[in-house]
Amino acid sequence: MERQNVLVQPEELEHQRTFEEKIKAMFESRQAHPRACVDTFGCQQNVADGQKLMGMLVSCGFTLTSEPAEADLVILNTCAVREHAEDRVFGNLGALTHTKKENPEQIICLCGCMAQEPRVSERVKKSYPLVNLVFGPHALWKFPELLWQVYESRKRVFSVQDEHGTIAEGIPVVREKGVKAWVSIMYGCNNFCSYCIVPYVRGRERSRDPQAVLAEVRELVEAGYKDITLLGQNVNSYGNDLDIGYHFPDLLADIDKIPGDYWIRFMSSHPKDATKRLFDVMAGSRHVARQLHLPVQSGNDRVLREMNRRYTRQQYLDLVNYAKRVMPGLVLTSDIIIGFPGETEAEAMDTVSLVEEVGFDALFTFIYSPRPGTKAAQMPDPATRAEKQQWFDKLLEVQNAMSAKLHAAYVGKTVRVLVDGDSDDPDFPLSSRTEGNRLVRLKGGPELLGKFIDVEITGSNTWALYGQPV
Ligand code: SAH
Ligand code: SF4
Ligand code: F3S
Repeated sequence: MERQNVLVQPEELEHQRTFEEKIKAMFESRQAHPRACVDTFGCQQNVADGQKLMGMLVSCGFTLTSEPAEADLVILNTCAVREHAEDRVFGNLGALTHTKKENPEQIICLCGCMAQEPRVSERVKKSYPLVNLVFGPHALWKFPELLWQVYESRKRVFSVQDEHGTIAEGIPVVREKGVKAWVSIMYGCNNFCSYCIVPYVRGRERSRDPQAVLAEVRELVEAGYKDITLLGQNVNSYGNDLDIGYHFPDLLADIDKIPGDYWIRFMSSHPKDATKRLFDVMAGSRHVARQLHLPVQSGNDRVLREMNRRYTRQQYLDLVNYAKRVMPGLVLTSDIIIGFPGETEAEAMDTVSLVEEVGFDALFTFIYSPRPGTKAAQMPDPATRAEKQQWFDKLLEVQNAMSAKLHAAYVGKTVRVLVDGDSDDPDFPLSSRTEGNRLVRLKGGPELLGKFIDVEITGSNTWALYGQPV
């Protein structure tokens, strides 16, 4: 699609700001002090979208609360990736019927990936009359206008048209205070892995202009953020749609030139598009963390083919081995799906053996969840839930032992960490992260927050390291 049709024009974005002003003026004239609650589910992309929603709400005159019961406006920013995520949202909608009874003026909005599914928006239209506004990720930038329509017309508003998707720069954003920030570098996905709903709800791949990304990262570094994660469903296809011969390794190399004391991370990275050049750029950089999240999904070639992943077990192993060779000490994590339709026990055990062979530092593991509308949802799925659970438990057992072993190897060493928050453990009141993004619970006081410091690792378990400043 033509670039000019992908970019939302500045006049159109300016126009949205006028709706923010109208809403703000409306509340001022009523002498109201409205509060809004944004509840975000799902991945970091959605968290980043939630921060834009909060930015637009603040511009509309809202203050933010985390308590739906005391909010004048509640947004459920939803995820559609697994059935469980969807069930939780419908559960929350059920609970909101009570808060809305108490406060009939309360405005309830449903947005995010579920809202973009016709099946869901129809169900909400029919069965959840308490919801005032439904809009998908494609309409996020138009939120002020849609909200104004709700206040002005008092009618239910639905904005859920299927689209290629756009890029909207300059939406206001409320970031988490502290040291971590998310930067979306591209939107959408072209890969259509057969189990996955994301391409249907997030549209086609669109890359932001490199200058816009560089300016945002520079601003964040100057504002004191120290752990910045670049986001995309597959960052390795960044730039393909720009047609200027500029790709993800180029972007990483340019970001790395920004002066300051910070780490850059990225996710996710599709193995089919991960290149040696990417790993060489990482290895030669100052700021790119030696950490790689490289979702493999399965260790069996037949299953990988059925998943439409477009790499083999051996190609994956070759990539990982190269990355480890050029970046000694690389921390490696992955996503795994157990129980894909038609997967046999032997095939699931191929995944377990791959996990043993690679030695991941940690895994995100899922049991396959059929997503209506995807190709895999049509495939015969003879294995029972109980069988899949057994394979899954086996995988966890192997991975937990591996994580515990890799963590134990840190004990006695001194490592550099970024102190990023409090912890609920009174003996280790701080939380921090290594360059590889391993969690270190720390002794020490609040004066260390936001600082890079050297710590001695004194203990470990499967999930975390424990340490003290040296
Ligand atoms: N774009 C990212 C993944 C986004 S979804 C990537 O390709 O790496 C995050 C993870 O959810 C996926 O990696 C996959 O492991 C899991 N997932 C996606 N669809 C799923 C489904 N239908 N059932 C179970 N897990 C799923
Ligand atoms: Fe889903 Fe595959 Fe796209 Fe990731 S790359 S979002 S798993 S379709
Ligand atoms: Fe979920 Fe949408 Fe992210 S489906 S995982 S919130 S892209």
